[in-house]
Amino acid sequence: MPRRELESIHGIPLYWCFVEKWGQVEAFQARPDDLLISTYPKSGTTWISEIVDMIYNDGDVEKCKRDAIFNRVPFMEMSTPNFINGTEQLDKMPSPRLVKTHVPVQLLPISFWEKDCKMIYVARNAKDVAVSYYYFYQMAKLHPDPGPWNEFLEKFMAGNVAYGSWYDHVKGWWEKAKDYRILFLYYEDMKEDPKREVQKVIQFLGKELKEEVVNKILHHTSFQEMKKNPSVNYETMPSWALDHSISPFMRKGISGDWKNHFTVAQNERFNRHYEEQMKGLALRFRMEI
Ligand code: A3P
Repeated sequence: MPRRELESIHGIPLYWCFVEKWGQVEAFQARPDDLLISTYPKSGTTWISEIVDMIYNDGDVEKCKRDAIFNRVPFMEMSTPNFINGTEQLDKMPSPRLVKTHVPVQLLPISFWEKDCKMIYVARNAKDVAVSYYYFYQMAKLHPDPGPWNEFLEKFMAGNVAYGSWYDHVKGWWEKAKDYRILFLYYEDMKEDPKREVQKVIQFLGKELKEEVVNKILHHTSFQEMKKNPSVNYETMPSWALDHSISPFMRKGISGDWKNHFTVAQNERFNRHYEEQMKGLALRFRMEI
């Protein structure tokens, strides 16, 4: 499929193929027992999705390998010609459903707020997101050409990338977490102490799992295991959508890779912009772990 420019949906740059069916997204009916997994792209969506699916299945690895992650945790707003339609997939699913989205708060279908669904938001530091997104833009053909790194970084800072500004996204969800049932997690914390963070998720979901089950979940969702697991590493996706010969989806799985990509000048410019955008907020990110 040839690459195409992003389109604007209510002011947010998004994939051209979402436009036609956006009405379905707006009209999507959440159910009270849906669990919404929300992230800005490249923040650990697939990781938290697999953790939650493992928790829902009491650590049964075979059940979690039964199907690709994008069928077990459908991507709500995804709409591609003749391939995936997230809302249609979800409408057919039995409850309780796991739903994935990357939308900023203002684009979330209103029924999620009305039904007071539980939600998990995972945030990752902006520098590592920018780097991870740069590789993803290259491999995922739904995106326009990212151009050279320097150009892409400028676009990222300006919010001129799919799903818009990272800053607006994390700030929007952070604000909502004050009033709704949202567990706000950080990728860096998950890297630092996966057991502690998985326990938080278990508690948030109101489950009780034996220590051995928790350990199984941790093993199954480690980067090394997920990298070789075809049900989560997207290798079953057609190459017109994701080209793994350009970059693997499970690329490095670390915090601080930005240091291998940002020049000193880029870092200084980024830091100035970052300070302006995040001024006065209690929201703090660690840039490495
Ligand atoms: P990198 O490109 O920095 O390696 P998403 O699922 O939101 O698209 O995020 C993808 C990023 O999460 C990639 O980052 C990927 O390697 C990382 N990731 C996926 N599974 C992970 C895991 N189990 N542990 C750590 N990082 C993981």
